[in-house]
Amino acid sequence: SQIQDIKADKVKKAKNMAFVFDIDGVLVHGDRLIPEAKRALSMLNGDNELGIKIPHIFLTNGSGKLELARTQQLSKILQNPISTDQFIQSHTPMRALAEYYNTVLVVGGEGNRCREVAEEYGFKEIIVPNDIVVWDPTIAPYRTVSEEDKAKARPLDFSKINIEAILVFSDSRDYATDMQIIVDLLRSENGRLGTMAKDPVSQRIPIYFSQGDLLCPTEHPYPRMSQGAFRIGLEAMYKALTGVELERVVYGKPELATYKYADEVIASWMDMLHGEERVPDNIYMIGDNPASDVIGGNMYGWNTCLVRTGVFQGGGNDEDNPASFGVFANVWEAVTAACRKEL
Ligand code: G3P
Ligand code: MG
Repeated sequence: SQIQDIKADKVKKAKNMAFVFDIDGVLVHGDRLIPEAKRALSMLNGDNELGIKIPHIFLTNGSGKLELARTQQLSKILQNPISTDQFIQSHTPMRALAEYYNTVLVVGGEGNRCREVAEEYGFKEIIVPNDIVVWDPTIAPYRTVSEEDKAKARPLDFSKINIEAILVFSDSRDYATDMQIIVDLLRSENGRLGTMAKDPVSQRIPIYFSQGDLLCPTEHPYPRMSQGAFRIGLEAMYKALTGVELERVVYGKPELATYKYADEVIASWMDMLHGEERVPDNIYMIGDNPASDVIGGNMYGWNTCLVRTGVFQGGGNDEDNPASFGVFANVWEAVTAACRKEL
């Protein structure tokens, strides 16, 4: 019948769209739910007139926890199931680096959490700054080593080990110590602490950062400095000390590689939901940060939606990086507007 034809047509269109959600400032504030997010996700998970699941993935610059732990926590907060197969955090694509490096310095995050993440990614020998400080406290003159630090450390004889790469996974909890150790390693001969390279470039080990956000919204009235600020400081120090630019790789939004990675995740999630491994034609990215979510989405040809529940607080659209699909009060408004347009 005609009604069935209309429904079949809508189902077809629904399978040709997908959503990409930013997390902080769109779905949650820290551990607090943004109420419209629960409603939007329930709708996409099948609570709609078609009774169909509309594919969506999560693409966050957040970091510092295992993917499984973070998705379990988010499933609880959002009261909707979130699978690790539809979830990308800043360091998720860095898993691929485990194929190239065995011995790595992992920087940032609380306690030993990022060490656990790196272990799960398959890195063989994972060193964190605390291991080095416990081995030789004179490396970080402003750091006091507690009994707890000693208990958590895995001190090796670092004068005999070459660290092959530096991976900044999450925000530094101790800029002075982390910057000192990173600079020491960047200036060393092939990652051997206690040495100084004759040529600062050819013997330098590579450094990777999981994301580049300068600022991050927190409970404080003004956004706080994030990994991007740490990196810029480090680059300036390195340049001043050596006279050469620091080459580095940055992951996360708005870097192109992250969007390519997202395409792969969308295609395999489409396969999971609808048995069709492909990227739908109409992708809608919903974010709160023009400088990361929107600029990256626009460059990649996605329809971008900016919401007013996070970093962006302006009246109209963002001037430098306007969202292509528009500005919305919250995520529910954005999702329903996209569905009205496509279905
Ligand atoms: O700035 C780091 C992080 O908190 C941003 O997360 O989900 O807004 O990309 P998200
Ligand atoms: Mg955000």
